[in-house]
Amino acid sequence: MSSTAMAGGLGLLLFLAVTAPFCFGANVTYDHRALVIDGKRRVLVSGSIHYPRSTPDMWRDLIQKSKDGGLDVIETYVFWNLHEPVRGQYDFEGRKDLVKFVKLVKEAGLLVHLRIGPYVCAEWNYGGFPLWLHFIPGIVLRTDNEPFKAEMKRFTAKIVDMMKQENLYASQGGPIILSQIENEYGNIDSAYGNSAKTYINWAAAMATSLDTGVPWVMCQQSDAPNPIINTCNGFYCDQFTPNSNNKPKMWTENWSGWFSSFGDPLPYRPVEDLAFSVARFYQLGGTFQNYYMYHGGTNFGRSTGGPFITTSYDYDAPIDEYGLLRQPKWGHLKDVHKAIKLCEEAMVATDPKTTSLGSNLEATVYKTGSGKCAAFLANVGTQSDATVKFNGNSYNLPAWSVSILPDCKNVVLNTAKINSVSTITKFVRQPSKDDTTATDAFVSGWSWINEPVGISSESAFTKPGLLEQINTTADQSDYLWYSLSIEMKGDEPFLEDGSQTVLHVDSLGHVLYAFINGKLAGSGKGGSSNSKVSIDVPISLQPGKNKIDLLSLTVGLANYGAFFDMRGAGVTGPVQLKSSKNGSTIDLSSQQWTYQTTFDAPSGSSPLALDFTGLGKGQAWINGQSIGRYWPTNVAGNSGCTGSCNYRGSYSSSKCLKNCGKPSQQLYHVPRSWLNPSGNILVLFEEMGGNPTQLSFATRETQSICSRISESHPLPVDMWTSDDETRKTAGPTLSLACPLANQVISQIKFSSFGTPRGTCGSFSHGRCSSKMAHSVVEKACIGSRSCSIGVSVSTFGDPCAGITKSLAVEASCT
Ligand code: GAL
Repeated sequence: MSSTAMAGGLGLLLFLAVTAPFCFGANVTYDHRALVIDGKRRVLVSGSIHYPRSTPDMWRDLIQKSKDGGLDVIETYVFWNLHEPVRGQYDFEGRKDLVKFVKLVKEAGLLVHLRIGPYVCAEWNYGGFPLWLHFIPGIVLRTDNEPFKAEMKRFTAKIVDMMKQENLYASQGGPIILSQIENEYGNIDSAYGNSAKTYINWAAAMATSLDTGVPWVMCQQSDAPNPIINTCNGFYCDQFTPNSNNKPKMWTENWSGWFSSFGDPLPYRPVEDLAFSVARFYQLGGTFQNYYMYHGGTNFGRSTGGPFITTSYDYDAPIDEYGLLRQPKWGHLKDVHKAIKLCEEAMVATDPKTTSLGSNLEATVYKTGSGKCAAFLANVGTQSDATVKFNGNSYNLPAWSVSILPDCKNVVLNTAKINSVSTITKFVRQPSKDDTTATDAFVSGWSWINEPVGISSESAFTKPGLLEQINTTADQSDYLWYSLSIEMKGDEPFLEDGSQTVLHVDSLGHVLYAFINGKLAGSGKGGSSNSKVSIDVPISLQPGKNKIDLLSLTVGLANYGAFFDMRGAGVTGPVQLKSSKNGSTIDLSSQQWTYQTTFDAPSGSSPLALDFTGLGKGQAWINGQSIGRYWPTNVAGNSGCTGSCNYRGSYSSSKCLKNCGKPSQQLYHVPRSWLNPSGNILVLFEEMGGNPTQLSFATRETQSICSRISESHPLPVDMWTSDDETRKTAGPTLSLACPLANQVISQIKFSSFGTPRGTCGSFSHGRCSSKMAHSVVEKACIGSRSCSIGVSVSTFGDPCAGITKSLAVEASCT
């Protein structure tokens, strides 16, 4: 059997003209329409991949998948605290190998937007600032402050020099066409008073003086001075205009989903809405758009910010945390990119002209003197589909959608009509090699060390009063003990019969355990919206010596907001013993565990996750590499989730939520490259106590592939043609493809041509369905990696004349 089968419809695939490859050694400038590369305006599609959020062995594949998805540019931040953990000591090894990452992007023929910051936000610890900055005498971060500016300039220049030495700027033949200085300072600059403006002007001049040969941008900075381009970040940027007529309309962060926090449900963003936002941006004059994130990845080690950001930074991005395509998100956006590229020539040649076609209905035309014409038709209403007349033809526009017409006549794509395949993925628990259950791999050989409660090390010191945690630990660890011994004479009111003593503790966060005389008495935790912790725990004290031990934990340092660096953490008080008489005192203690064992790596090459069911909260290392903080006992609240999410209407990070009532994160990514075939060592630092024998590995697998295409869908974007004759014989086409090259479609789980109901995984037959559907689909697809089927009555017969019918298929691959 051939690898692609075709049934019905048009047997001929017409391929798109491939855009000229980027020629390196380019001169990059800009004008009011676009970035201009070697004298040519470009319509560019970009996506963020942060190199330390995956492993170097994943990079090539992630970049290739980005290219296949239609990206021209990879955008990454540079993470100062990774590269300069100690002032003056740089580290660019392994996951921190920025030069290697940029070179891999170049090898793939893509371009780079290097967002140096060096403040980056990014849900990254301390917004990317190294903690040592905080301890420089007289320093105030992100303002007109000499000690800060000196450090910022030194690091920015260091990165620029490194890139120059490797010839990585476009002006030198490299892939870097753009750089960013600062990050969204305009969102919070009013808190810094008049110094804000001085600082931004300084940052602009400093960046420009580094002479990279390519333009600089500032995002969310409406007063960015020339020649810096001010760009937009947000869920929508179609209404954005740059601060000068000489600057192009650019979107540096189109949030493809949203980040997740321990204790919260998981946000997701429907692709119909994301595609709508993208098409609207290009419709209204935009020429550079970046997905934040295209691959989110994993916050390994203690790299999360927030606080409370989860270890997973999946972001509901087109490529998932594990490096697999998220479908139909990736595929539909790929189609959107192709559709937009079909309009590029007209778009760069002229300014758009927008007219109203009725309430909430807009047509935008890019028409050149030489007869090139591309159009975008939008229905920005959230309720009703509409039929519009444009250039004498009639078009159906679903609510909250954009149709793209590369020839001002025929629709190549509508953002609400998905031609791409969908997949349902699942995690499959892995049995170990020589045992019947996965747990056995972990049951044997655990050893643990019980950490003593309270102060046990010689590095302890005594000071009057309560100390702020970050100043005390310099973030070298998540943990700080606050311990106090108090003497009870025996006649205090606390100890009187029937008197109830309550220990009250106020902490800036993020998690707190209270121990009385070595026993856990109570605990509390903050959350993503308020990191502070306040506890009132009933305790009993005894005559004589009593020990109060408070263990305070951070879960990533703040990364956003004015003066986020000064927010602090830990038990800053008051700490009080409350009863009939009020006293106040301090102390702390806790119980923690270290577990260790050896195990064999699960076979195969599918991405791996460790399921932390049974454990409490802590940190985990595999063969010495930190896979991050785990916290499966932090369960998302029960409210805010809906069974499905209506993509129509403005999206916000709390609009579409899932996973309510479940652990915010139970599965933790273990990169394959960190595992040996056997003899792997897993070390857990468990704070709460838990049962490691329930730990298991799971692999990410595809459960089903699906598609649902109606007779009113545009042709697949790859079949685009303006030619009327060819269009007559072609029609909407359902295409399926297995995700892996060595897979074939092995089973058709569902197929219906007529009025099928439901979504992928839960399709059912509607009132009308063709009897031939199953056999046609089986014949076209079984045994092939991919197949295409014409969605028309000529393939299936007509089960209900006069009604717009759809073909829905669910299949499995093996
Ligand atoms: C932006 C910021 C990014 C990231 C994003 C949310 O404000 O520039 O770094 O934090 O929000 O994911």
